[in-house]
Amino acid sequence: QIAEIRLRRVLDSRANGTVEADVLTESGGFGRAAAPSGASTGEHEAIELAPEEAIAAARDRAVPRLVGEAYAGDQRGVDRALHAADGTDDFSEIGANSAVAISMAAAKAGADMLGAPLYQHLGGAFRGENFPVPLGNVIGGGEHAADATDIQEFLSAPVGAPSVTDAVFANAAVHAEVGDVLAERGIPAGKGDEGAWAPSVEDEVAFEIMAEATETMSDDVGFEIGFGLDVAAAEMFEDGEYQYSDRTRSTDEQVEYVADLVREYDLVYVEDPLDENDFEGFAELTDRVGEETLICGDDLFVTNTERLQRGIEQGSANSILIKPNQIGTLTDAFDAVELAGRNGLDAVISHRSGETEDTTIAHLAVATDAPFIKTGAAGGERTAKLNELIRIAEDAL
Ligand code: PGA
Ligand code: ZN
Repeated sequence: QIAEIRLRRVLDSRANGTVEADVLTESGGFGRAAAPSGASTGEHEAIELAPEEAIAAARDRAVPRLVGEAYAGDQRGVDRALHAADGTDDFSEIGANSAVAISMAAAKAGADMLGAPLYQHLGGAFRGENFPVPLGNVIGGGEHAADATDIQEFLSAPVGAPSVTDAVFANAAVHAEVGDVLAERGIPAGKGDEGAWAPSVEDEVAFEIMAEATETMSDDVGFEIGFGLDVAAAEMFEDGEYQYSDRTRSTDEQVEYVADLVREYDLVYVEDPLDENDFEGFAELTDRVGEETLICGDDLFVTNTERLQRGIEQGSANSILIKPNQIGTLTDAFDAVELAGRNGLDAVISHRSGETEDTTIAHLAVATDAPFIKTGAAGGERTAKLNELIRIAEDAL
C-alpha cells in the first residue's frame, strides 16, 4: 500500500519548473519520476498546469485518495484513483504533469516492491525480446529552435543495427557527422531543445546533409542507417495552408510533397506530416506511401484511444507516438499501445522536448516491445534514456 507521496518542483532541460513525485510504500518500496513537457504540444493533449498549481491541486485532491488506499503494484488502481481525484477528462484539475509523475513513480515503487526492474514489472513474463530502435533527432528547428529548419526534426534511424548499443552509438555518430558536415560547409549551428543541430538553412539543405551523413556513417558502421522526420505540421498550418518560410502548400500539395520526400530519400518514418485534425489527409498519405514507411500520429492522436480509434477507422496512420504525459497516466498510455497493436499499428515510445533525467520511457519501450523509441541523440536528459536502454539490454535483450 502507498504510505506517502511527496511532490516537489524540479528543473527540466529548458530550466523550466516541472513536477517530480516520490511514492513510498508501507513495505519500503520507493519510486521517483518527473513529468516531461512539450513545446509543440497538440491541441488535444491533457492539460499541463503550472507546477506549483499542479502540486497544490494534487496534494489536495489526489494524495488523499492514494495514501493508505491504493497499492503501488496495482497500476490500474492507482491510475483510476488519479482520474477520480481529477474528475475531468483532460486532467485540467490536478494537471497532467502531477498525474503522470505520480503514475510513473507508483509504477517504479511497485517494481521496487517486487524487486523487479521496471520494464519487467510493466511488461511481464511474455514481453517480447526485440529491442526498440532509437530514432535520434540530429537536425531540427520548428518550435524547438529559432530561425532553423521548418521541419521540426530530422531523425537518424539505424534500422539495421544488430544491438541497442550499436544503434545508440550509430545515432551519436550521425549527430557528430552532421556537425562535421555543417562545419565543412561553413554553416554555423547551435542546438535546439532536444540537442539536435539547429542551422539556419532551408529544409532542402538539411535533407542533403542527412542523406550524406547517414550514408557515410552507414558505410562506417557496416549496417543500414536510414532517416525519418517529425514534420510537426500542425505548427505550420494556418489559414488552411502549410506555411513554409519560402512558400505555402495546400493540403494536396503537402501530401504530394511528403510522398515525394519519402520516395526520394527512402524515409523510414514520417511523424505528423499533416495538421493534427486532418484525419483524411493523413489517410491519403498513408495509402500513398504503403507499409514500408511508418506514418506516425503524434499531435493527431495525442496518445488518446478515442482519437486513435477514429484514426484506425479512417486508415489515417500505420503508427502512433506514445507520450504518457499527453494522456496523464501509464494505464492510458498502455491502453493506446494495446489498441494500436490489435489493429496492426506500431507504437513508438517518445520523450518530450522538455525532459529530465527520468528514464521511465526506456523501460516503457522495452515493456511494450515497441519497434522504435524517440528520445534524441545527444544531451544529458536524452542520453539518460539511451544509457538506460544499454543497461536494460545487458539483462534482457
Ligand atoms: P514536443 O516535441 O515535446 O515539443 O511536443 C516533440 C514532438 O513533437 O514529437
Ligand atoms: Zn511530434
